[in-house]
Amino acid sequence: MLVSGSGSNLQALIDAAEDPGFGGRIVVVVSDRASVRALDRAEAAGIPTRVVEWSAFADRDSFTRAVCDAVADAGAEAMVLAGFMRILAPVAIERFPERIINIHPALLPAFPGAHAVRQALAHGVKLTGVTVHFVDEQVDHGPIIAQEPVRVFPDDDEASLHARIQQVEHDLYPKVVSAFAQGRLRVAGRIVYWEGPR
Ligand code: GRF
Repeated sequence: MLVSGSGSNLQALIDAAEDPGFGGRIVVVVSDRASVRALDRAEAAGIPTRVVEWSAFADRDSFTRAVCDAVADAGAEAMVLAGFMRILAPVAIERFPERIINIHPALLPAFPGAHAVRQALAHGVKLTGVTVHFVDEQVDHGPIIAQEPVRVFPDDDEASLHARIQQVEHDLYPKVVSAFAQGRLRVAGRIVYWEGPR
């Protein structure tokens, strides 16, 4: 798993992966920065951690190669991004084709980018939500695996809306990652088909 911050989605996946039927294992947690809560959560769960410092690399390509190496060295077959705040270079998709998953706090293709919750509020949408998608070469763009709506209330601010979005994330992300780990997701162009139960 790739993280940069609080790691609440990481925690939801750590908890879900304790179920023997989950289908996969978190073998390493990689962060682009040290001293983040997500790394503490991984350590508390006994999961190895690696820090690949963004600032230690000359460019996005060499940073991405180092992230991929850290993931591959740990024996991981896929990457699950949860609040990872760096854009990976295309080399990551070459090395892990249809094997990188991201979660985004809006109903893509609406509000891509780092300020999705703020932008949804500013735009006045009445419904936003959560998207889980495969990562491709463009930001917040790859084939959509699952979406769930979240209602926007008139008195919402960014914090209250993001908190409700995160509740949905913590339920949805483990279900999607489990289906992926069980080999139940099939990608055909932009369309992702689920096999078996949702
Ligand atoms: C989530 O809301 C996710 O949608 C976005 O970043 C946030 C990460 O939160 N990409 P956390 O680190 O999992 O608590």
